[in-house]
Amino acid sequence: MSRQARPVAGTPPARVDGRLKVTGQAAYAAEQDAHGAVRGAVHGVIVTSTVGKGRITGIDTEQAAAQPGVLAVISHLNAPKLPYRPYRGDSDPPRGERLRVFQDDRVRFFGQPVAVAVAETLEAAQHAASLVKVTYAGQRPATDLDAPAGPPNQSENYQRGDVDQALQRAHTRLERTYRLTRENHHPMEMHATIARWDGDRLTVWDKSQFVRTVRGDLATVFGIPAESVHVISPFVGGAFGSGLRAWPHVAVAALAARQVRRPVKVMLTRKQMFTSTGFRPVTEYKLTLGAERDGKLVAAVHDIRAETSTYEDYRETVLTQGQMTYTTPNVRQTYRSIPLDVSTPTWMRGPGAATAAYPIECAMDEMAYELGIDPIELRLRNEPERDPGTGVPFSTRRLRECLRIGARTVGWDDRDPKPRSARDGHWLVGTGVAVATYHTQRAPAEALARLEADGRALVECATSDMGPGTYTSMTQIAADALGLSVRAVRFQLGDSTMPLAPPHGGSMTMASVGSAVADTCDKLRRQAIALAVADPSSPLHGASPDDVVVRDGRLHLRDDPGRGESYRDLLARGKDGRLETRGGYTPGDEAERYSMHAYGAVFAQVAVDERLGMVRVRRLLGVYDAGRIINPRLAHSQAIGGLVGGIGMALLEHTVTDPRDGRIVNPNLADYLVPVNADVPDVNAIYLDGDDRTADPIGVKGLAEVVIVGVAPAIANAVFHATGRRVRDLPITIEALL
Ligand code: MOS
Repeated sequence: MSRQARPVAGTPPARVDGRLKVTGQAAYAAEQDAHGAVRGAVHGVIVTSTVGKGRITGIDTEQAAAQPGVLAVISHLNAPKLPYRPYRGDSDPPRGERLRVFQDDRVRFFGQPVAVAVAETLEAAQHAASLVKVTYAGQRPATDLDAPAGPPNQSENYQRGDVDQALQRAHTRLERTYRLTRENHHPMEMHATIARWDGDRLTVWDKSQFVRTVRGDLATVFGIPAESVHVISPFVGGAFGSGLRAWPHVAVAALAARQVRRPVKVMLTRKQMFTSTGFRPVTEYKLTLGAERDGKLVAAVHDIRAETSTYEDYRETVLTQGQMTYTTPNVRQTYRSIPLDVSTPTWMRGPGAATAAYPIECAMDEMAYELGIDPIELRLRNEPERDPGTGVPFSTRRLRECLRIGARTVGWDDRDPKPRSARDGHWLVGTGVAVATYHTQRAPAEALARLEADGRALVECATSDMGPGTYTSMTQIAADALGLSVRAVRFQLGDSTMPLAPPHGGSMTMASVGSAVADTCDKLRRQAIALAVADPSSPLHGASPDDVVVRDGRLHLRDDPGRGESYRDLLARGKDGRLETRGGYTPGDEAERYSMHAYGAVFAQVAVDERLGMVRVRRLLGVYDAGRIINPRLAHSQAIGGLVGGIGMALLEHTVTDPRDGRIVNPNLADYLVPVNADVPDVNAIYLDGDDRTADPIGVKGLAEVVIVGVAPAIANAVFHATGRRVRDLPITIEALL
């Protein structure tokens, strides 16, 4: 596809937006006013409910409204009725009542927005918000899977073979229950929105991974055409899934802006981030495994329950791993979401997959010990040749290599499998392994590319870059297809008026947007070549287009480099001095014909203080089969981030709810623990060389989510190897090991 001699895809250029970020010139949502994108913004501070369920009996705003600089205090008592006409044009129309802010007196979860104070300054708005007096008729909320707010939602089921019969005949049966706690996304950048109305047109500067869905959501809430909503989100300071939908504060900002007829900025506090932008749901996972004496799995039963809100049925892809990871002829799965009086959970890095990998990979370790088989050997004996769920071949599956290379790198064969067999003073040392998989997703995407008069290119797509480096990797793809250097290409994203992009999530951006950018830029290069060979003034006139290549912005004959001209010279003779085209990518039926996933093998070494129960991770290694790697530097950075996130999941992160009122007990980064530098030792990642041309034209499989999958069970299995203690609830706390 590339006509450039030395492709930049596959090489590790630094982030093209790195300088903007480190010099503070990258404007995040809450900074757009300071950066001049929007003038005259005033501030909205949200008042949130202090009960977890009930009704608002009174809101006294008199004192708040009387403060200097206060423009309005808005609640259900004075908010306009929102039309809420579901808009059908976009891929993710809002369901339920997530964005129906200030419409009635009902409280559905602790931390729900009940009012907003709007003032000239942030300080005045904060003070006014603190003076709003809300009274409630509160009830005890349901916050526990075992005492739900209503009947379970309809279950998702899967079955193959005859599980009961197979379990009866199995040589060894294991029946275990694993519990995963609630986790919150904690990007450095808080969620924020600035909203401005110009008549019936709404512009929002929002922190978002999916500008198109925010556009559709706001169109729905305010009953206006989607074309009347413009969503702008050029930079995102981390999101991990929390930016994949619009949340109530986005609607609050827009509603307030319409009331006060000024642009309004709403930035959540860190405390509000615990109840306002979703979370990884509490999940209980019961797993029964049956195996033959030689380790061959014969049956598996997965019974899963996870929390959702009373007003939306959130579900994630938690069943896939149990169907395709290991050859298991008989499988039965049930997955129920349980309504609780909580805000709606959402996708959080590796959603579903990171959750399912914990029980499955811990149970495989338990089975290995039951049978006296090495944990890697047990996995290899159950490695399928085709997808055991669908029977279709894998596009590529190199899990064996991942395990083998990882084992060699960490010296697995020198490990004494006996628990408590290695120590270092009063530290018990152990090594564990787990497998990671994440389904490869692709979605339709479009792009626009333009060669400017100066010979440089502009490429656009309404995707996002929440940190993985989309700006950079897309620039690389475009540069190769156009025969330009990275510096001669500018890639723009994060604007709902740009060509279609799928959500910047689910590890699908590189495959989808990358393929769209490649197609568009390929087309543009071919158009330029066609122009040249048809132009009597061009040195390339009369040449066959197939014989022309472009290198460093110069078109020339492949076999006669002296004969050619630059894009710039070519365009200078044209009518408007530029050349523009649109292109895109639409996945075919590959997903029906092939089973497509990224894979990994994760190795953890831990030391556990025998006297204190404290776990220190000493080493983490992930070996990945993620298809082609466009930028090894950014891919490595993704892996390190995912592995570190996995340390948090295994040992630290735990959102604690007070069952009496639904309050979050630890809504700050002092009490909600995330890994810090001292928790992050020797962490490394290896990506296998190769590509997957079935998955998409550019050969990638998606690498952002698979890197958090399998980390928690690798650590848990290492803790078992170190201590002989099997901890089945996350996070693994000191208390559990004492
Ligand atoms: Mo990722 S949870 O799909 O942003």
